[in-house]
Amino acid sequence: MTRDRLRGKVAIVTGAAGGIGSATARLFVAEGASVVLADLDGAGARRVAGELGAAAAAIEADVTRESDVAGLVALALSKFGRLDVLHNNAVTAFPDDGDPVGTPNAVWQQTFEVVVMAAVYGCRHAIPAMLRSGGGSIVTMSSGAAHHPTGSRIAYGTCKAAIETLSAYTASMYGVQGIRSNVVSPGFVLTPATRGLFDEGQLAAFSATAAAGRVATPQDVAQVVAYLASDDAAYVSGQVVKVDGGGARGLKW
Ligand SMILES: NC(=O)c1ccc[n+]([C@@H]2O[C@H](COP(=O)([O-])OP(=O)(O)OC[C@H]3O[C@@H](n4cnc5c(N)ncnc54)[C@H](O)[C@@H]3O)[C@@H](O)[C@H]2O)c1
Repeated sequence: MTRDRLRGKVAIVTGAAGGIGSATARLFVAEGASVVLADLDGAGARRVAGELGAAAAAIEADVTRESDVAGLVALALSKFGRLDVLHNNAVTAFPDDGDPVGTPNAVWQQTFEVVVMAAVYGCRHAIPAMLRSGGGSIVTMSSGAAHHPTGSRIAYGTCKAAIETLSAYTASMYGVQGIRSNVVSPGFVLTPATRGLFDEGQLAAFSATAAAGRVATPQDVAQVVAYLASDDAAYVSGQVVKVDGGGARGLKW
């Protein structure tokens, strides 16, 4: 169900070819927004944008390159005339992201670039354009991994924690000028990419122990991103909104 929550708004979604980003871009357009879909996978972004008609523009972009991120903002302005929403969503998973002893420096640096610096570049270039549009909403994607360490992926979890702080500072520093900044923090989300990581038995176990009785879909997450992007959330800023269905069911003692 859509409610026209983003009528007239112009948004950028990074990682828009991916599982959650594509669902969010589709929902943004369904809710009335015009959307720049950015992804390293330019063909994937173009495929999703192709479904969405004139309200969508695809661009191949690497969010770890500041000039590419500046280009996303320039495209939003030249194609759609303003910028209201930035969704920092792109991510790369690095197989060697392990524990504090074994994780290579290069993995730390690449993870920092794609998670933290991409969001820094996004804020740096989007905020001035949003101010010219009278304000805006930045929605940055974190992960449960920021606060619930698992057996691997220390760089990913650490960098996700860092962008939660970046978002809170942005909310505090630009709120008075009409910029809101929030974080969405999903638990496990079933996407084409995550489906490939687990066998059917493991996926069934995730659903069986989930408080919600099932795992999250990309649409579950997109609905919360769209809410935070919209004026329904006009007084919501500096928050981290978990989308984990209540987490895992507790043990009985
Ligand atoms: N799927 C989950 O279970 C889950 C859980 C918690 C948080 N998240 C977060 O949700 C967001 C989306 O995840 P997803 O599951 O849809 O991942 P995904 O792998 O399906 O999509 C990520 C997209 O980002 C793109 N990308 C990678 N590096 C890029 C770069 N340098 N520049 C531009 N685009 C780049 C990829 O091409 C891909 O299309 C991520 O921030 C992720 O950390 C996902």
